[in-house]
Amino acid sequence: MDDIRIGCGYDIHKFLEIAIFDNAAKRLFLGGVLIEGHIGVAAHSDGDVVLHSITDALLGSLSLPDIGVLYPDNLKSTKGVSSIDIIKYAYKLVKEKGYKLVNADITIITQTPKISAYKERMIESTSAALGVDKSRINIKGKTKEGLDAVGKQMAIECFSVCLISSS
Ligand code: CDP
Ligand code: ZN
Repeated sequence: MDDIRIGCGYDIHKFLEIAIFDNAAKRLFLGGVLIEGHIGVAAHSDGDVVLHSITDALLGSLSLPDIGVLYPDNLKSTKGVSSIDIIKYAYKLVKEKGYKLVNADITIITQTPKISAYKERMIESTSAALGVDKSRINIKGKTKEGLDAVGKQMAIECFSVCLISSS
């Protein structure tokens, strides 16, 4: 009998202080897309909150160890690791258990950048990383109306829900 499972994922990263904006290595990646000219985030990896939250939703759907267990942020071997590689590995584990993604719905919460300007490219890059049709991925942006750390542009966060099926 076919089985369906659901997982939710969340991630948040702090934007860097303007003083270290010049650090070219700290660029903002969202859904595998480089957001040109935008301040980057503090992270052990490339800090892609979108791919990290989807990864945790995929892993969570099958009660697999979460991203922080699979990629500890205190190891040299995981420093600067590409989030594309992380999500590919998570989805490989899901497929090995006989499941595939039905759909993912993703909400990025940030004052900047305007997500609508990048969402098509993010959907393309995320679906390509997973090897699924673009129609299975939805990405949308929301502000925090100036409230709390995200509203004060100190951080960017992302929620994801993934449905998977064994059929
Ligand atoms: O209108 P409401 O207060 O519910 O939402 P908002 O946070 O002011 O965002 C309005 C619309 O702008 C959203 O529905 C998104 O379509 C878009 N948006 C975006 O593309 N990127 C963001 N970082 C924030 C909002
Ligand atoms: Zn992260």
